[in-house]
Amino acid sequence: MTTFFVAKVSDIQDGKCQAFEVNGQKIAVFNVGGEFKATEGICRHKGGTLGEGALDGKVITCPLHGWQYDVTTGECVANDAVQKLAIYPVKIVDDQIEVEL
Ligand code: FES
Repeated sequence: MTTFFVAKVSDIQDGKCQAFEVNGQKIAVFNVGGEFKATEGICRHKGGTLGEGALDGKVITCPLHGWQYDVTTGECVANDAVQKLAIYPVKIVDDQIEVEL
């Protein structure tokens, strides 16, 4: 695994999220009550960009058709037949958010 800088802590406020492309991979980073989480960035339905969706607590809603995922587990809410999103470890180093891929 390699660690990649994605943003400063102050760039993603509590309850917000952002999409990134890191090392050729699309990921999404979420601020859940001051704790940062990172998942695969592409919706399992039809490829929506999850980092551009709306975060409510720990649930992200895809901006395209509204599928929802728990960003702490990667599980698709209301449809456990959908493969979970990959979850990536996040480290905060000083004021920087780093994700391990
Ligand atoms: S692409 Fe995400 S809900 Fe359709």
